[in-house]
Formats: sequence, structure tokens, C-alpha cells
Amino acid sequence: MKYQAPKGVSEYFPPRSRSFEWVRDTLIEPIKRSGYQLLELPVFEETELFTRGVGASTDVVTKEMYTFEDRGGRSITLRPEGTVGALRAVIEHGLDRGALPAKVFYSGAFFRAERPQAGRYRQFYSVGVEAIGSDDPALDAEVIAIADAGFRALGLKQFKLEITSLGDAATRALHRIDLLDYIEGLDLDGATLARAEINPLRLFDDKRKEIRDLMAKAPLLLDYLSDESRTHFEAVQGYLRDLKIEFTINPRMVRGLDYYTGTTFEFVHELLGAQSGIGGGGRYDGLMEQIGGQPLSGIGFGLGVDRALLAAEAEGVVDQASFLTDLYIIPLGLKAKTIALSLSQELRAHDLTVEIAFGDRALKTAMKSADKTGARYVVIIGDTEITTGTVNLKQMRTGETTSVSLSSLVATLSTELLTW
Ligand code: HAM
Repeated sequence: MKYQAPKGVSEYFPPRSRSFEWVRDTLIEPIKRSGYQLLELPVFEETELFTRGVGASTDVVTKEMYTFEDRGGRSITLRPEGTVGALRAVIEHGLDRGALPAKVFYSGAFFRAERPQAGRYRQFYSVGVEAIGSDDPALDAEVIAIADAGFRALGLKQFKLEITSLGDAATRALHRIDLLDYIEGLDLDGATLARAEINPLRLFDDKRKEIRDLMAKAPLLLDYLSDESRTHFEAVQGYLRDLKIEFTINPRMVRGLDYYTGTTFEFVHELLGAQSGIGGGGRYDGLMEQIGGQPLSGIGFGLGVDRALLAAEAEGVVDQASFLTDLYIIPLGLKAKTIALSLSQELRAHDLTVEIAFGDRALKTAMKSADKTGARYVVIIGDTEITTGTVNLKQMRTGETTSVSLSSLVATLSTELLTW
């Protein structure tokens, strides 16, 4: 029997798993530096949380949820996204009763039963933040800036930020009347009309060219913004300009989830083809109440770790060298092995990555392993080295060797290694 991973999931294994880890941790870094705190949440929730929170007109809810009955007969769904689960936890644990905005982040696997293709998986990884309880447009700008900083820290350059505003409830009610009016005048099939009835904005996102063409002259939400929404959106743009974060306004942007209001944004990478969205988010005023919480506003984003990794690979910015093992120790004999074990512990305490050749293999085989591991330096410890107290430190890239006393190896490697 030969088992395989389920269809369409993303898996990471060595050596590429190091790049994955680097992308995820780099994206999290600016989030932590902005004071967001970790939420570690279940990957499944009551199904109703998602149907209420994510929205009945979305593909995510209608076609893509992994839903099943648990042993107690409850309907359970694997989380297709992070926001509603995060808000559920914020409400349940009263995090919205302390200092506002409550700022949380999470990282992990999400599940959508999509048709798998490059950059689109049924289990994917995302890093997200949610800030709950502040209407300040400066918060919108900061949230966008945090995502931007994460992508920049990876070294990505070929991406664009698109923003728009979906306005407030009054804005959308007015626009909805005109948009439905416009849509009624079109020659559309029943299923499309039914979708439009639940959320007419979805038609802007229709993949079919004929629908896109029909929607080209449809009234745009941005033209209906209330004074309050417009002032907020302009303030966000002002802050982004001050931060020198470039953006374009895309009035036809439709997010895949129904809860968005006000400022909405997407990061789009130029080299990723059809699945170009590397991150996105926005405000969701009303969602807290929708799932049983206080009437507090909120804003957040989700960044696609899988896609950010594909983007980093496409731009050639994955710094493989930073993943290398610093030192590979080859002990020859029992005494040497004892020395290797304690020496490696000491070096690791100085933040160096150290590996030992195990299994008493021939020197040649051990050297080959050192090479495969991609070690920067190798030392061989044998009887002579133990007697003289000196080792030859070999730099693998250049083949150069330097004689170093065993007692100064820690100091040499931890201070000089990086500059060599
Ligand atoms: P989302 O845009 O649906 O937003 O997902 C966030 C990111 O996850 C996307 O930009 C994309 O990079 C990645 N992603 C989504 N689906 C897949 C997939 N099937 N395969 C690979 N990557 C994928 C949200 O989920 C919102 N919860 C974000 C948010 C937080 N909005 C406010 N707060």
C-alpha cells in the first residue's frame, strides 16, 4: 500500500520547509513588533459560526467548506478563514472588555475545498491579524503598513497594493438599489440573479467574460460613499501617502468574504498568475454583533504564506545561505564523540547551528553528509586533535582551513564566523 497526501494540500518538507518557516516567521515579525498577541485557536468550529459570519453569498460558504458531523451529532466545519474564529474567541474570553483596540494575531492552516492549482490549495497557511474596537483611520493605515512591512522584509518588490472602500451600511443600501436596478436590466441566468439578490457586488467578481463585460458600466460603490465614509477613506489614503506606501484604488475589488465594510485592500503579486493575491483584508464593522458580540468595529488581514513563498521564489529572494548549518563536527572515536556532544551544546548556546556526524561512519561518508547538509564549516576531531588540542576549521565554500585551538573554537566561531 502506498499512501499519498490528500489531493490539493500544501505540504512542506526539507529542504523547502526551511523557506516556508522563514516566510511565515518573517511575516509575523512586524505583527509582533506592533503589539499584536497570539491567538492559538481550534482548526474547527461550529458550522453556524461560518455561515453567519462569512456570509451566505460567498463561494467559501456555499461550495468550499469542509463540513461534517462529529460523534455527538454536531455540525463542525474546518476553518476556511481566521477572522470569525478569532472574533468568536475575543468575545468568548472578553478580550474586547479590556484596552481597545484588542489586537490579536494567528498563524496556521485553513481549509477550502477549492479546485487545486498552482497557489490554490485545499489546506493552505495564513498569518492574520485582527484589531477590534477602534474606528481610527490611522489604524487602517497601520494594519496595511504591517502587511507591507512583512512582504518587504521578505525582499519582495513585484507586488502592488490595491485599496477601496465599501462604505457604511447606508452607503451600501443606496448603492444596492441602483446596482440591483442595473442588474435587472441585464440578460442573466437564474443562478447568477439569485447570487446577485444575496450580494450584488459579487457580480463584479464573476470570472465569466460576458458577465464582466455586462458589469463594465455598472454603478460603482465608491461613487456612493457617505460623507463619513469618504472622509475616513481619504484619511487612510493620506496616512498611506505619509508612510510612502504606494497604492492604487480599485473600485471593482470584491473580496471573497461578505463581512467587509469601509477600507478594504489586497496585495497582488505580479509573477503569480491567476492566484496572485498574496494578502488581503479590511474593516468589518457589524461582524462582532453578527456573531453575538458587542457592536464594535474591527479591521484585519490574512497573508497567504504559501503564495508569499511562491512569490519569494519567483523573485529569487529566498536567502538559502541563511539556513545553512554553521558547523558540522565529525568525531572519530568514542572520546571525540563525547567532546563533540559537549562542544556542540556550547556552540548552540551561542546561537550557532551545529550538527554532529553520528554512527561512526567513514570520514569520506561523513564529509559527504556535511556537504549535503550544506554546512559552512567542518571540523574533524580525532586522536591527534585531542592530543594537540587543535582542530582544522574547514570553510566548505572556499575549501580553506584554519588551525584553531579547541578551547578558542567557541569564541572564534561565534565572533568571527559571521565576518568570514
Ligand atoms: P482571504 O483573502 O480569503 O482573506 O485569504 C487571505 C490570504 O490567504 C489570501 O490573500 C491568499 O494569499 C491566501 N489564500 C486564500 N485561499 C487560498 C488557497 N486556497 N490556497 C492558498 N492560499 C490561499 C481572509 O481569509 C480574511 N480572513 C482576511 C482578513 C482578516 N480580513 C480581515 N481580517
